[in-house]
Amino acid sequence: MSDDNAKEKPWGGRFTESTDAFVEAFTASIGFDHRLYRHDIAGSIAHARMLAHVGIIREPECKRIVDGLEDIRADIERGDFAWSVALEDIHMNIEARLIERIGDTGKKLHTGRSRNDQVATDLRLYLRDEIDILCAELGRLQAALLELAEREADTIMPGFTHLQVAMPVSLGHHMLAWIEMLERDYLRLLDCRRRVNVMPLGAAALAGTSFPIDRVYTARLLGFDAPAANSLDAVSDRDFVIEFCSAAALVMMHLSRFSEELILWSSAQFNFIELPDRFCTGSSIMPQKKNPDVPELVRGKSGRVTGNLVSLLMLMKGQPLAYNKDNQEDKEPLFDSVDTLKGSLRVFADMMPALEVNREQMARAAHQGFSTATDLADYLVRKGTPFRDAHEIVGRAVRYGIENDKDLAALTLEELQDFSSSIDADVFEVLTLEGSLAARNHPGGTAPAQVRAAMDSVRTRLANRES
Ligand code: ARG
Repeated sequence: MSDDNAKEKPWGGRFTESTDAFVEAFTASIGFDHRLYRHDIAGSIAHARMLAHVGIIREPECKRIVDGLEDIRADIERGDFAWSVALEDIHMNIEARLIERIGDTGKKLHTGRSRNDQVATDLRLYLRDEIDILCAELGRLQAALLELAEREADTIMPGFTHLQVAMPVSLGHHMLAWIEMLERDYLRLLDCRRRVNVMPLGAAALAGTSFPIDRVYTARLLGFDAPAANSLDAVSDRDFVIEFCSAAALVMMHLSRFSEELILWSSAQFNFIELPDRFCTGSSIMPQKKNPDVPELVRGKSGRVTGNLVSLLMLMKGQPLAYNKDNQEDKEPLFDSVDTLKGSLRVFADMMPALEVNREQMARAAHQGFSTATDLADYLVRKGTPFRDAHEIVGRAVRYGIENDKDLAALTLEELQDFSSSIDADVFEVLTLEGSLAARNHPGGTAPAQVRAAMDSVRTRLANRES
């Protein structure tokens, strides 16, 4: 980054003294907005083509501008572009370089445009690309979870409420729950994309421009659905950034909850799973340790992403119309949310297929904690006992089991009949874990047939996605 205060500012005309050196650094955004270079150049090329299309500039001028911008893009990609703090931001850095390269024709590019509609356009183009990448990453994670669910379709584990053993479920069913949450996350991002994909260009500084521009033409070139309907709104609001960051915070919240499970499950106390070594680290002092760093970090990073959402809401809420420099502060939280979410999805999608499942331990845990107590109550109801009475009867049987250190299935028929004379030998079918699962045989339930049907529909859904 060069700090060339002697460089003339594109807006220097009305100023009599040069910018204070610290203020120059304080107000510059080039340190972070240089990542918008591709979108800034794409926006400028489309703008130049539109200017030529309506006759504001001549075709050869347009060609010089477009060629110049493409050369600049190649320079940047080669690492051959020195960003200047004196030129404040990505827009002026590129425009100044264009003028340096192609001369006076370059000065015509900014006709009918302002940095206010330019930056809003760049950000929307950038975010649209990132949403597409994130949607694909979400799909990759869902596919990884589906593969795991299919592999573990018959693995029985305890389902929990209050982190207490509640009822047996299959691990496949459990994984399908996460797939559903990620499905809503995906749909939220797609929905957000529709509102991102609207073009601010033409709004200029705030009121529009006196030139006979063709906004529909530019919008079509850039793949926007339409030009923004109101120029003041187009340059001022960043609700699309906030909406994205909200959707990102929700995905991270889901990944954080998921992480919490992986951390618990990989502990010696649960011992349900083994995380692959390559996703863990050791301790510098305790030789036995293998720490679940990846899920811990994802859980930790979810806090940052929520913080970014709150920052942006606070950034926006006090601003009168239209553009205010405050909005320059929208980029770092947005970039951070994009990067953090992308990294977290990537590491999860890479890690999940390599998860080792300790099926015996899961089954053992499902046998503990009287996970089929509800099945016994339901059995009594089918034999004519009202549910509330059945609940009371099974509660007493559970207390007996605790006192004698026996699961319900380990009680003899005689012992069980002490609690209710309606109990027959067929009771043992409902007290098995397999019986408990098979009984929940309706769409959305954990019965193996239902889980397989749910997997089929997820597979179809994922295959029919565009991205
Ligand atoms: N760097 C600025 C931003 O990020 C670009 C727009 C500046 N507009 C202005 N009128 N100063 O928002």
